[in-house]
Amino acid sequence: MTPQKLPGQRCDRVPAWAQLRTLYERQGRAFDLRTAFAQDADRFDRFSLHAPHIFADLSKNLVSEEINAALTELAGQCGLEAQRDAMFAGERINRTEDRAVMHWLLRHPKNAASALPAALQSTFVEMHAVQDAMLAYAESVRTDADITDVVNIGIGGSDLGPLLAVQALDPYVDHRRRYHFVSSVDGHELSAVLRGLRPERTLFLVASKTFTTMETMTNARTARDWFLGKIGYHSEPRNPADVARYLERHFCALTSNAQAAAEFGITKTFPFWDWVGGRYSMWSSIGLMIAIAVGAERFRAMLAGAHAMDRHFCEAPLARNLPVRMALLDLWHRNFHGYASRNIAPYHSGLRRLPAYLQQLAMESNGKRVDMNGEVLPYATSPVVWGEPAANGQHAYFQMLHQGSDVIPMEFIAVKQALHDLLGHHQKLLANALAQAQAFMQGKQGADGHHHMPGNRPSSFLLLEALTPESLGALIALYEHRVFAAGALWGINSFDQFGVELGKVLALDIEPRLASGDVAGLDGSTAGLLKRLRS
Ligand code: F6P
Repeated sequence: MTPQKLPGQRCDRVPAWAQLRTLYERQGRAFDLRTAFAQDADRFDRFSLHAPHIFADLSKNLVSEEINAALTELAGQCGLEAQRDAMFAGERINRTEDRAVMHWLLRHPKNAASALPAALQSTFVEMHAVQDAMLAYAESVRTDADITDVVNIGIGGSDLGPLLAVQALDPYVDHRRRYHFVSSVDGHELSAVLRGLRPERTLFLVASKTFTTMETMTNARTARDWFLGKIGYHSEPRNPADVARYLERHFCALTSNAQAAAEFGITKTFPFWDWVGGRYSMWSSIGLMIAIAVGAERFRAMLAGAHAMDRHFCEAPLARNLPVRMALLDLWHRNFHGYASRNIAPYHSGLRRLPAYLQQLAMESNGKRVDMNGEVLPYATSPVVWGEPAANGQHAYFQMLHQGSDVIPMEFIAVKQALHDLLGHHQKLLANALAQAQAFMQGKQGADGHHHMPGNRPSSFLLLEALTPESLGALIALYEHRVFAAGALWGINSFDQFGVELGKVLALDIEPRLASGDVAGLDGSTAGLLKRLRS
């Protein structure tokens, strides 16, 4: 690939990097949170931030004022603001694929067109026309009493965002219908869903940016065959016009490949564009399931929450900019302390798929070992991101987080108001969130090694007033921008994912071998396993 000019500077090539190295040796390595709080009564205020819909306490991280200032310097020297502005100007910052990165445009309000560059005006108008049509369709489904079940068939970014949002916004969901998500090619998933469906009462949403993804296309074809069979259409060969007519009210495609959807037999398509990455696509037509579940107005509220976070990211100074602060902590943890993993600890069951969503967002974006120019990086990038609702995690893997040999930075997410009336539950939940964050920091002197808890384990604590469409939008946009900022500092392209291709190609070779038994040219292990599967 021809080397391209980076829009900013790589973190290891700016003066603040060396300064941080020195600071790490002088203060960072032995930093003690308990001492830091004892010496500074204002530490909580100094290290906490307000962003739209989110309060963030970052005080329980292993940073001093001096370290924080050096991290801010680093962001400035890397040209983080210029890189951010390039994304918001619609520049083709996804250089390896020569694409703009404009998921943020999907939540830019219609009445604020004048704030956009002239070059984006026509795209913006087109985008809003599609969004309006998609939301009008969602409303028509919501008033269609015949439809009792909606099935989203999609995977990765075409599944996780809608699934997260429909679960998170459960109190706002219209429960007169059922919402199903089928992602894996594992037929157990689709067959379990089909078992409970009636074709005339079902709407299938085939969600795939490319409309070529093997899992989604396999599930979509099976769903189509099931549907046509159930309504009594058995003609072979099938007449495409008949198929299209039968599918019209029951299949809808969300894709940037409208032609493939039409060839499949789907006439109702809501498009989106190559400037929306799959893992950033829940704001686009891919969000149709969310809009059907909670309604157009709440979908727009989710967009508004995300837009408020966009504004914060664009306008807040680096020192008070929450996505930037979190990205800088990522860099501090990963490249100076050497922490290889980060735990997401949501204290809200509605956020049970948030860790999975963030795994794709963070690890597919920043799981890269070369910089924008293809040069191998001399430092680590994305940590492993993992977790599950922490009220359960506490009774499972938290042991390792408290006493294990690895330090794993924690990210607590708590919600002040519960949207249920089960008295006492929420207090207990919140008490546990606070207590765990406290325990990670404080630790405990034990009578012996078995009872000793070292403490001084870093954590961030995000607090939402309530889990609403607005706050969910803001929370997800916060993570998007944090991932962007970390990727920009690391000098990588956060918007491609070439690493997922090889396995897909090899699976295409192996599938017919499973039928034929041909193991010629395979390595010994793959050949041995294939033979066992056939025996
Ligand atoms: O294989 C990874 C991936 O390309 C993701 O980036 C994407 O979100 C997912 O597959 C689904 O892709 P599509 O929406 O094109 O079906």
